[in-house]
Amino acid sequence: MREMARRSTPKSVFDYTDGGSMSESSLDRSRDAYRRVEFTPRIMRNVADVDLSTTILGKTNALPFVFAPTGFTRMMHHAGEPAVAAVAERAGIAYALSTLGTTSIEGLATATPEVRRWFQLYVSRDRSQAVELMRRAKESGYDSLILTVDTAVGGIRWREVRNGLTIPPQLTLRTILDMSRHPKWWANVLTTEPLTFASLSTTGGTVGDLLTRVFDPGITSEDIKWIRDNWDGAVMVKGVQALEDAQVLADLGVDAIVLSNHGGRQIDKGNVPLELLPSVVEAVGDRTEVYIDGGIMSGTDIVAALALGATGTLVGRAYLYGLMAGGQGGVQRVVDILSKEIKTTLQLMGVTSVDQLDPSMVRLRPY
Ligand SMILES: Cc1cc2nc3c(=O)[nH]c(=O)nc-3n(C[C@H](O)[C@H](O)[C@H](O)COP(=O)(O)O)c2cc1C
Repeated sequence: MREMARRSTPKSVFDYTDGGSMSESSLDRSRDAYRRVEFTPRIMRNVADVDLSTTILGKTNALPFVFAPTGFTRMMHHAGEPAVAAVAERAGIAYALSTLGTTSIEGLATATPEVRRWFQLYVSRDRSQAVELMRRAKESGYDSLILTVDTAVGGIRWREVRNGLTIPPQLTLRTILDMSRHPKWWANVLTTEPLTFASLSTTGGTVGDLLTRVFDPGITSEDIKWIRDNWDGAVMVKGVQALEDAQVLADLGVDAIVLSNHGGRQIDKGNVPLELLPSVVEAVGDRTEVYIDGGIMSGTDIVAALALGATGTLVGRAYLYGLMAGGQGGVQRVVDILSKEIKTTLQLMGVTSVDQLDPSMVRLRPY
């Protein structure tokens, strides 16, 4: 899917999705950690019937993963967020719309009324904007808020700078050259609704520049109370990268945390969520749900994270590669691949449901 995505989109778009920050070590190591997974399968158990569902923030999720929030999704493919949410709706999993989404909060709710919708919030310097977004999400039936907190400033993503990727895409000599290689992508961009952030006004520059300009670097754990005052659904905090922060958030009573380095797009040389997972689950797992993302590229990766104690997982690039490769059909294909891999791995591990997995069944081989 990744290779198909590369062929289907301009280089700047592929690199925006595929890349990480600075040396891309956070990204590479997060993926590498999953290569170190080693299972201890059990045999001779009856695994004829397998249940792939799990309970996520009080509701059944038909599969043990959800679609992570990703900004600028209509740039990857003109079908954008509604196509991804439609697949989530059909699969019975949650979909998180980003503050940097290219479909409005209300537009997505109208397009996919049945999907379980979450809203991912970036808190802007002008707090009234965040309050307004929460109000709109609540009115449009989004049941949980993901507060992303690993973006005090935008990560430096050199691929974006090198490729001259700006928001919205500009017609430069480079983009015109690109057009000749990807006429279908460009025709779709030029003939569908203009590509802008639906919840933010854009003023040019890379996404990293935009994050730095718009978002509040002054947000602290004290603000959880302010969020609670403005949001009555579940609150999940995404971007936790230290045991101490997990403990602070659990003490504050957040419903869930996501161990995440933003898919390696923010701090470079950050720690690896999968390696942090067991200690965090041990320390706070009885008080808050612990999710994980970053580097998940297969169903076995998901099974490994669950065995190490995650309540569930978020996938980002995996579904975006599908979207770029083939629109809604491509996202569906990714769900089919992941589901098949999860089911087969569970059966070969000798278990029939996600909650039968436990840490004794998996280890990370030393480097
Ligand atoms: C292209 C792209 C855009 C993203 N945009 C956002 C965003 O707007 N908000 C957010 O909280 N996370 C964003 N993320 C991070 C994802 O939510 C998630 O943490 C990450 O993709 C997980 O890693 P994976 O891509 O290896 O699965 C983005 C990730 C990608 C790849």
